[in-house]
Amino acid sequence: MAVEPTALSTRILLLLVWVHHDLSFLVTLCGSITILYVDCVERPRGEDQYHMNQQEEESIRAEVLSLVRGEKPEPQRLIALLQRVQRHFGYLPRTAMIELAQFLHISPARVYGVASFYNQFRFSPPGKYPIKVCLGTACHIKGGEAVLKVWENKLGISEGQTTPDRLCSLDRVACIGCCALAPVNVVGDRIEPCVTPIRVEGLLLAMGVSPQRSTPEERAHASADREG
Ligand code: FES
Repeated sequence: MAVEPTALSTRILLLLVWVHHDLSFLVTLCGSITILYVDCVERPRGEDQYHMNQQEEESIRAEVLSLVRGEKPEPQRLIALLQRVQRHFGYLPRTAMIELAQFLHISPARVYGVASFYNQFRFSPPGKYPIKVCLGTACHIKGGEAVLKVWENKLGISEGQTTPDRLCSLDRVACIGCCALAPVNVVGDRIEPCVTPIRVEGLLLAMGVSPQRSTPEERAHASADREG
């Protein structure tokens, strides 16, 4: 009987966890896979976008060291320190996570594994216009997912990402406390009530952002077509 590749990988993963009898092994493994994915898929896509020079990396390292000053290097403080770093930078720069790993004497894969487990953490800098799509129960029932899809298509990014020009970033959030106005989006610091897919383009125009940006894949196809 044929086994689906995803089912097979899940079984291998469970077998490895069973062999190691250790959940932290799974976290580290997931972290390593995520780092590999970011390096192989996400990073090349946004390489110029978030490229830091040595001076910027040095400055991030110094800022992280000052953020953890007075802390004991205890791995159980990881989530609290990740939250502190994200509050300071607005996201978790890769260099900051590596510095944090060194400070806590744990592997960068473990830091990445923990950070990527929680959707409160983001890995790209927030845009000038942060867009948050509420997907709490009320907003979900009233079509929040469809609205999120339209934002993704119009901006050419997925949730958790920032456009290459850093104008817009897109995130899903849980209930923001105004369910009567569902589905709700937060654009910048403005709450937008009753957002339908059709309203998304108007909201973009109000921000001065031209909609219908193409996705990286569409741009690659378009340039291949031009050259062909
Ligand atoms: S579920 Fe969206 S505001 Fe409550």
